[in-house]
Amino acid sequence: MLNFKMIKTVYIYTYGCQMNVHDSEKMLGILSENGYRTAEKPEEADLIIFNTCAIREKAEQKFFSQLGRTKLLKKKRQDLKIAVAGCVAQDAKDNIIKKAPFVDFVLGPQNIHLISDLVSEKNTRTSFEENPDIAYKEYITKRDSSIKAWVSIMYGCNNFCSYCIVPYTRGREISRPSNRILSEIRQLHENGYKEVTLLGQNVNSYMSDIDFTGLLRKIDLININRVRFVTSHPRDLSDDLIRAISELKSVCEHLHLPIQSGSDRILDLMNRGYSYSEYIEKINMLRELMPGIAITSDIITGFPGETDEDYMLTVKALEEIEFDGIFAFKFSPRKGTKAFGMSKHLPDNVKTERLNHILKIQEDITYKKNKMIERTIQEILVEGHSETDKNMLVGRTRTNKIVTIPDLQENVGSFVKAKIQTARRHSLYGINIHSGRILN
Ligand code: SAH
Ligand code: SF4
Ligand code: F3S
Repeated sequence: MLNFKMIKTVYIYTYGCQMNVHDSEKMLGILSENGYRTAEKPEEADLIIFNTCAIREKAEQKFFSQLGRTKLLKKKRQDLKIAVAGCVAQDAKDNIIKKAPFVDFVLGPQNIHLISDLVSEKNTRTSFEENPDIAYKEYITKRDSSIKAWVSIMYGCNNFCSYCIVPYTRGREISRPSNRILSEIRQLHENGYKEVTLLGQNVNSYMSDIDFTGLLRKIDLININRVRFVTSHPRDLSDDLIRAISELKSVCEHLHLPIQSGSDRILDLMNRGYSYSEYIEKINMLRELMPGIAITSDIITGFPGETDEDYMLTVKALEEIEFDGIFAFKFSPRKGTKAFGMSKHLPDNVKTERLNHILKIQEDITYKKNKMIERTIQEILVEGHSETDKNMLVGRTRTNKIVTIPDLQENVGSFVKAKIQTARRHSLYGINIHSGRILN
């Protein structure tokens, strides 16, 4: 039994990718084992954690300005503890404490288990060691959802794309043993979870006693309804893996496959390890085997030395491939990466212009893609109520598109067959179909 006085509260700010979202769940799990509850607001917390992202300057700035505001809370309450975790912590190391001496504890993404030291007041203050043991650690996780779960399958990245800071903040690639992954997913299935998303910076280079395709085949036997994974690297997407995705019942018909640029010259400078035509070959095979598959991607505009011609090749790629959706970013120079020291950095207005142009082109493509599923019947996993209309539910198709449907008292976590009635630029509306009868 917990002594009432020992109950403390924690508030966590999470920035960045799914890896960070899941790391926050792991830290909250460790803390709840130590008697911590989650606070609704930072003002009410005994401990505030920043789980930071360093991928672009903007992400880092967001954290630093929030940290500045939090300093005022600490001034009012000396017993408030502040921890900085995640990729900025790993990148900036001791400089965080130099810059912000009111921070109590700084820990890198490979050392999140040490958040318990803070609780036991061992207070080592900083932990940034490379920690290959991370793949063998098991965490008690406090998951945000009771329907969909993140499952780590590998940590770190070896790719060293020339613009990217992740290999420096998350360390070398290491895969988690397959039996651990499988037992975690079995447990989630038994607990009623409907969907798992396998996490890693480059999931298709997973390698333990089995490779990624082997892992997917074993996961499929568990019979959880939906399996997704992020992120795949085009270079490591084998024919064998494409076939497995098409054959396995639980693996969803959606692939996030970052292309970054349509110019071979830029792809080479980015150290991506594939050409545009090799990328297209994979897309063609995916679509031949799975005509309904949704493909999404990431684009960087204004990489150093990107000419108008290079940029127009990216535009051409978007028009040729017709992704279901993209995330596009302005190139952000990150200290310590190869691209940081490259010549011919572009002015910000050029990067912005290209970014806005790309987003506009993609908007029309996304709309066209959404239109294509009008009048089709889709399986929707209900995730919750619409924020703007409490009479409506929101869920996702297997292709990861968000659909709004009327609330006919379906439970969150249930599967509804819905006919897509209207496709808009940013949303899809469906009508629920029950045993062949269309309601409403
Ligand atoms: N491991 C994943 C995710 C990496 S981060 C992958 O390889 O795709 C997600 C995206 O951020 C990348 O795909 C890239 O498009 C973008 N990104 C990474 N570093 C960046 C930088 N320095 N500037 C702008 N965008 C960047
Ligand atoms: Fe970064 Fe490239 Fe690794 Fe992705 S694959 S995390 S973009 S280095
Ligand atoms: Fe950001 Fe680190 Fe993820 S830099 S995108 S939180 S791996």
